[in-house]
This record gives sequence, C-alpha cells and structure tokens, in this order.
Amino acid sequence: MASYTFQSSGPLGGRLRVPGDKSISHRSLMFASLAVGESTIEGLLEGEDVLATAAAMRQLGAQVERGEGSVWRVHGAGLGSLLEPHQALDMGNSGTSTRLLMGLLASHGFKATFVGDASLSGRPMNRVIEPLSQMGASFEASSGGTLPLMLRGALPAVPIRYRLPVASAQVKSAVLLAGLNTPGITTVIEPVATRDHTERMLTGFGAKLEIGEEDGERIIAIHGEADLQPQRVVVPGDPSSAAFFIVAALIVPGSDLVIENVGMNTTRAGIVEALRQMGGSIDALNPREVGGEPVADLRVRHSALTGTEIDPALAPSMIDEFPVLFVAAALADGTTVTSGLEELRVKESDRLATMAAALKLAGARVVEDEDGLTIHGTGGEKLPGTPEGAAVETRLDHRIAMSMAVAGLASRDGVTVDDTAPIATSFPTFVELLAGPGA
Ligand code: S3P
Repeated sequence: MASYTFQSSGPLGGRLRVPGDKSISHRSLMFASLAVGESTIEGLLEGEDVLATAAAMRQLGAQVERGEGSVWRVHGAGLGSLLEPHQALDMGNSGTSTRLLMGLLASHGFKATFVGDASLSGRPMNRVIEPLSQMGASFEASSGGTLPLMLRGALPAVPIRYRLPVASAQVKSAVLLAGLNTPGITTVIEPVATRDHTERMLTGFGAKLEIGEEDGERIIAIHGEADLQPQRVVVPGDPSSAAFFIVAALIVPGSDLVIENVGMNTTRAGIVEALRQMGGSIDALNPREVGGEPVADLRVRHSALTGTEIDPALAPSMIDEFPVLFVAAALADGTTVTSGLEELRVKESDRLATMAAALKLAGARVVEDEDGLTIHGTGGEKLPGTPEGAAVETRLDHRIAMSMAVAGLASRDGVTVDDTAPIATSFPTFVELLAGPGA
C-alpha cells in the first residue's frame, strides 16, 4: 500500500482540467460496442474502472483501441451479436461496469461470470438481480447477492415495467440496457430522478426512448431490438472529479482557481448548489454544450463557509460528492447536518463510517448518525491533521483517499492517507494535478 501525507503549501491558482466523466466514459464504450461500425470517443477517462469496461467489451467481441491523440476507436459487434466470454469478466473496483453489463447481458443468450476486488465483492447486486430475473435472466450469486456471480441471459427476454425501489442510476440503466435487446417496450419508473446519461446517450446512438412524468415520477420507456448507429462521442470533464478541486480552492486561503470544461448536467451538479448554499464563491463561466451535455468553466475562490442543513432531495444529484462535502463542512463555521444518505453505506466503502473515522482522526468533530453525518466545523481554522504514525483508512475507496487529501491541504500537520492506489480507478492524474496549482 502506498501511504502519502498531504500538506498545504499555498493557495490554488491558475487553470486546470479534470479528466473525462466516468459515467459517460463507461456508457460510451458500451454503447459504441453495440453499434455496427466505428465510433470514436474523445476525452475518455483512462482510469482503471473505465479500462475494466473496455476490457470486458473486448471479451464480448468489440474492437476497442486507443488511437492517436488519445482518441478511442470502437468497432461495435452489433446489438444481439455479442460473444459469450470464455473467461470471467473482471470488473475490478467498478460497480458501474458490473451493474450496467449485467443488464446488457441479461438479454443475450449466454452465460457470463463477473468477479471483482474485495470492495466490489462486498457490494449488493440483488438490486439488479431482482428486475433482471423478472425479465427472464437467472443468476448464481455469492451469499448475500454479491460477486463472484454467474449470469445466464434470456433470449428473448421479457419486457417489464419496473419502479425503482432505490434511487440508483445504475439499476435504472441495467434495466434499460436489458430492454435494448428485448422485444417490446421496457419501462422504468423513477420516483426520484437520478443521473440521465443513459437516456441521453442511448437516444444519441439512435435508440427510441420516451421520457415522461406522472404524479411527480419520471417514466422512461425504451423500445427494444434497437438499431444503434456509431457516433463521435466527446466526453465532458467529470463534475465528481472537479468537486475535489472546488472544495480545495474554497478551503485553502488565497485560492482563486478556474476548473475548465466541467459537466453541469443538473442531475449531477448538486455539489455546486450545496457549496454555494454554504457561502462558497463558485462562478460558472462560459456555459456551453459539449457532447450533448451542458458544461462550464468554474471559477472558485477561497470563501468563509457556513454550516448548513443539506436538503436530502439534493442527494441523488451529488451522491458521490458527500465525502468531499464533509471535508468542506469540517472547515465551515457552525454545524452541517446531512440525512437521507443510507445509500452511502453501500458505495466503494461505507462512506458514512469511513469518512467519520477519517475526519475524526484528522481532528474534526463529527457525529455519525444512521443516515448521515453531523459535522461541527472549525470556522476556517486549520484541522490539526493526523497524529504522527497514524493514517486514515481508505478501504479501497478512491473518493475517501481524494477527500482526505483535500483535508490535508487545510491541516496544520498534514493528513496521511494509508493507500493512494485506489485513486487510479477514477482520477489517475489527481496527485499530479494537486501538486500543480500550488498545493
Ligand atoms: C453511477 C451511479 C451512481 C454513482 C456511481 C456512478 C452511474 O451509483 O454512485 O459512481 O454511472 O450510473 P448508484 O446508481 O448506485 O447510485
């Protein structure tokens, strides 16, 4: 394990770009693999999670190559023409790869085995096994509905109408992807809207989707046996990666940083709203569209943050940003209360428990509740940092490692993180970029 101590050495300034959006990167490889002909992908996130998807699509028969200028070229095999994988699909740390591919393969007539690392092997898969079984697929999972698991797809699968019991874009996407190769219309009902990249991108690739609203719920219907057309995909910068630099600039005195090309899709931008509510100075400059998604350059200046109560309704639009929001709260004036965050317990780690322990070790005042954290901020005073010889535990969770790295920038004695290797799953250039703008 590569432990590392993060310390502040000055304000963050200048301009930087974060890598491509992880959710969009996974989907671009998958959907391009289902279109007959060559798609190109610019700005693909070259992190381990996305590379796991690329490797899986190759095992399923697509040609996936990194070409000149980091443009990826994908020759799709065609929907319904994927090949049975002869070896287990190794999903590494990636829940998105696993759940979306389980959906896709549920309506293909062969078997596939999914394996992953220790973190992924503890995460719940029943949430996708359940609807996909209704569609006709069968599963042999490890106890508790976890990886390793074997899936046997159904051909033809049966279309269903499914109301999501948890607010999860992964579950929604799994059902929609299964619906792609299923005769008839498959419908997902979302009581609470989650990220909509699957809907936007599948429409872009030529699938027929109808999206409506009934009684405040989102209804998404997909017509099966689609004929996908190859596309040129341009991936915008990942707001979830930008969030670490947004918070870093807000809490390090003197900072004035521009983060370029950040995805601002409203189903993802909750963190900006929450931080502004805390008094953060974040200006969205030059708003425009990249690859069918709204993007902007974010100018972030050091700000005196105030504790607040975060509306649980914001959670789906910032579900991956809570670890770094907790860091902002630890430096704010007053108390920040979060609730309705049970889902954080089943991410790459139990993010409520892991962040509570990590922040306490760094000297913050945190109370862990069942469904959220309550954090009493320092009012802008530096956190003490981790005691000599002690390191925060990241538990194979990239976002814990990066959040606590950011906490280190606003600490007296530095924050030691036990293992920085997981950062490469979503943001391989993080440490290098953090060292760049003065930190
Ligand atoms: C993702 C959905 C979210 C998120 C994950 C990426 C996606 O998971 O946490 O990092 O790309 O669909 P859930 O759907 O489990 O909330």
